[in-house]
Amino acid sequence: MNVNILCSMKVNKICCIGAGYVGGPTMAVIALKCPEIKVTVVDIDHKRIQAWNGPLNQLPIYEPGLAKVVSEARGRNLFFSTKIDQAIEESEMIFMAVNTPTKTKGEGAGMAADLKYVEACSKNIAKVAQTNKIVVEKSTLPVRTAERIKEILSIYGRDNVNFEILSNPEFLAEGTAIEDLFKSDRVLVGGDETQSGKNAVKALVDIYAKWIPLEKIITTNVWSSELSKLASNAMLAQRISSINSLSALCEKTGAKIDELSNAIGMDHRIGPHFLKASVGFGGSCFQKDILNLVYLCKHYGLEEVAEYWHQVLKINNYQKQRFAQKIIDHFEGNIRGKKIAILGWAFKANTNDSRESASIHVSEILYKNGAFLQIYDPMVSHKNIKKDIKIYWNKRLKIPLNKDNFKILDQLKNVDPKTDLFVILTEWEEFKEFNFKGIKIFDGRNLNNNSFYSIGK
Ligand code: NAD
Ligand code: UGA
Repeated sequence: MNVNILCSMKVNKICCIGAGYVGGPTMAVIALKCPEIKVTVVDIDHKRIQAWNGPLNQLPIYEPGLAKVVSEARGRNLFFSTKIDQAIEESEMIFMAVNTPTKTKGEGAGMAADLKYVEACSKNIAKVAQTNKIVVEKSTLPVRTAERIKEILSIYGRDNVNFEILSNPEFLAEGTAIEDLFKSDRVLVGGDETQSGKNAVKALVDIYAKWIPLEKIITTNVWSSELSKLASNAMLAQRISSINSLSALCEKTGAKIDELSNAIGMDHRIGPHFLKASVGFGGSCFQKDILNLVYLCKHYGLEEVAEYWHQVLKINNYQKQRFAQKIIDHFEGNIRGKKIAILGWAFKANTNDSRESASIHVSEILYKNGAFLQIYDPMVSHKNIKKDIKIYWNKRLKIPLNKDNFKILDQLKNVDPKTDLFVILTEWEEFKEFNFKGIKIFDGRNLNNNSFYSIGK
């Protein structure tokens, strides 16, 4: 083993592979808080990098507060580049923040995490590195992925180069990413229990300690850290499915779900967060991470545990379908030709991300049943809405898309005045202030009173 890595290490240069929703904001905040460290974020996606280097109001990711952080650090010690090899070579610490979607083919298809991007990065790091590196797993990964990364690094790496692998999962939520990164509930660093591993852990802890209080930085072994991330997401999603399942019972009994959430959440042992009933959770991670957890449980022969977590997803799908059906029932089954305005395409407010958004699924069912849809979202681009429609609707519906049956709007005020129903699917502020002129609203984000109501004249 090379002796250098055994000594405690000061990090001067960091590289992050993956300039997405995690890599971009996370590295921007590290660069802001550690001006003495050069931070380079790299990606194979040239357009994305170009946008990161472009005007601040057109960054590839919309996050409140992000443009300000980028404007302070970019060009000083924060750089966005496509020169991946150069950034790897010059850095002592390399974060991997690439996507880990659900596998679509091969063993574990539809459940297991696809590690092809993580494996490609690991190979690249191994081939390029001429000096010791600390490799940090920032992506959300199945427990024991570090073992696979280590294997790749040792097969493809030079004999005289030492790699330490750390797990440092990211807990930010989109829409509040900058706030979350500034004031993290906790930062988790998992590392090997060897001296070399401990030194690597310390090097990363020293970076976070620049702005996160030490008592909030916890260190564990690598496997606990990897699994804690999957488990955290599963438990958050489980709370949403629990409250959503109860919303169905509320509708049958006359109880009000918000009153239930409030009463339950006031118990300090339960707490008030993540008890907001909704049309179903969306986002790129909850579903894929739970599927991954289910797959892992099955892999280890834990069928009952797998089934327990799978139920969280089943309730989420039930909720989305249930609400689409409620809308169809509102028209007594005659939804064909009805003009419906879909308000919100993002999976939650304050993000331009629409991955796995409940809006996509609910509108798909309405479209399939013949409704005419007018879609509006203040942040998701028309290009991305069209892409989602193609990927999600077209693939699943397996019928050609009829462009005469839906329209994407630039502004909310352009909704046809003869619209039959507004369906709110993302809790954007703009929708709270809009004058709906007495047209019926179905509010998928406010499930009391059976969710149908009218306001305005
Ligand atoms: P993303 O798709 O927005 O970004 C990933 C980026 O990695 C893409 O731009 C892609 O081009 C790039 N990439 C892929 N392979 C590459 C390679 N070999 N070399 C260089 N670049 C490569 O994904 P994301 O939302 O940022 O998520 C990344 C990881 O972080 C996932 O594992 C996810 O589960 C996890 N995570 C996401 C969030 C979130 O809020 N989105 C929060 C916590 C954790
Ligand atoms: C979630 C977790 O909150 C983050 O900690 C985690 O880092 C991230 O996943 C990840 O690993 O990607 P995110 O998906 O960005 O973050 O956003 P959330 O605020 O968790 O919302 C997820 C979905 O749940 C949204 O559709 C939201 O509307 C819905 N939700 C949330 C509810 O329906 N009810 C609630 O009470 C809370």
